[in-house]
Amino acid sequence: MGLAAQGYSWFPGRWRRSANPDVLHTRLMGKRAVGLRGPAAVNFFYDEDHVRRHGAIPEPVQGTLFGHGAIHTLDGIDHRNRKMMFVSVLKDARQVGQLAERVGRAWDDAVPEWAGQPSIVLFDESARVITKAVCEWAGVPVTDVAGTAADLTALVDGFATAGRRHWRARKARGRLERWLTGLIEQARRSPDDSVLSQVASLTETDGRRLEPKRAAVELLNIIRPTVAVSWFVTFAGHALHRWPEVRDRLRDGDLAYAVAFAHELRRFYPFAPFVGGVAVQESFFQDERIPKGAMVLLDIYGQNHDERLWPEPYRFDPDRFLGREPGRDELIAQGGGDPRAGHRCPGEDVTLAILATLAVRLARLDFTVPEQDLTISLRRIPALPRSRMMLAVSGAQEVSGRATAEVAAADGEPIG
Ligand code: HEM
Repeated sequence: MGLAAQGYSWFPGRWRRSANPDVLHTRLMGKRAVGLRGPAAVNFFYDEDHVRRHGAIPEPVQGTLFGHGAIHTLDGIDHRNRKMMFVSVLKDARQVGQLAERVGRAWDDAVPEWAGQPSIVLFDESARVITKAVCEWAGVPVTDVAGTAADLTALVDGFATAGRRHWRARKARGRLERWLTGLIEQARRSPDDSVLSQVASLTETDGRRLEPKRAAVELLNIIRPTVAVSWFVTFAGHALHRWPEVRDRLRDGDLAYAVAFAHELRRFYPFAPFVGGVAVQESFFQDERIPKGAMVLLDIYGQNHDERLWPEPYRFDPDRFLGREPGRDELIAQGGGDPRAGHRCPGEDVTLAILATLAVRLARLDFTVPEQDLTISLRRIPALPRSRMMLAVSGAQEVSGRATAEVAAADGEPIG
């Protein structure tokens, strides 16, 4: 109840009352729960002898955000077997570069249309740009880009709430899974080297091919979170408006600054609140007892705003990442640990490449910000500026040559 009412502020309120700054005891959905934060806690949390995922993710989250039987719910060898495909596609710098390049092109194609309208909603438009690009990149033919983008963002928008947004997400999942199951079956009949075909050829640990519907769930677990980067693109619009000096520096297209900006977006703005699992056995972290069967929650938002790791955590400051890559278990916007072995998000390179590419373009866009409600409520999960960032676009600055961020990505250089 507290979580539903307080959203991202639920954990901070509890940390203030906790005797231990890295461990707290609470209840979630009637179950005993232990909250953790800090790099040492990340290490503890991602050890499968301590925490497992099977049975940890509530049905309403599976029925909307992840899909039933998704990689997020697997443990041990089954998880590592499934993870190999995600890592081989999403950690391949050439693949990441090609995706970022397509996103950049789709954005450039859309700018003249935006300039012809009184105003646009950055959240909706960036979701459409990314949907078009990621579907082309994955080999997924899409005719209704706007409708597909709306369904994909609905999955994320409705996972943590009851009521209308939640039912809209469930319906969207039904439509998307039916559509992609058909494409998986087709790809099995005529395989090629597309991402779609690679997902279609996924096998269970015993060598059997995944049920087509299950493969569709995993295809969606590539496409849906890529489109979710539009949350951060919207936050980028918010940041450029609030801190115009950042916009001036981004315009130069300097890769190091664009990546630092992307890291700071992921740290500063609220998106994934926490990740959770179930305690496999009784264990102890910093002498605090974690009983078998308790929910264990890693507080992402709390760790990303912990002043012991981030001086002045509520100041937006990309410079904190200039000349310094975040330590593996410090910035955990997309989980922690080793993405190849554990559940850490395999999409961080994709996220950074898309953000670096679009942040520079956004900074070079000629726009004004009309009167609107830019409040970001920490009670709403996932958070977003209330009016979803309206912009009145008049065109884009002509620049000779591409931004270094994009060149690096397209050349297959690892980003971030
Ligand atoms: C929008 C930015 C993103 C955020 C905030 C985000 C966040 C996360 C988080 C918090 C997790 C869970 C980590 C854990 O369970 O320990 C995760 C897992 C995952 N993410 Fe992302 N992600 C993003 C983008 C992406 C992208 C672009 C992709 C794919 C192209 C992706 C694919 C996945 C997959 C497949 C998993 C499951 C990994 C596993 O269970 O082993 N994500 N993400």
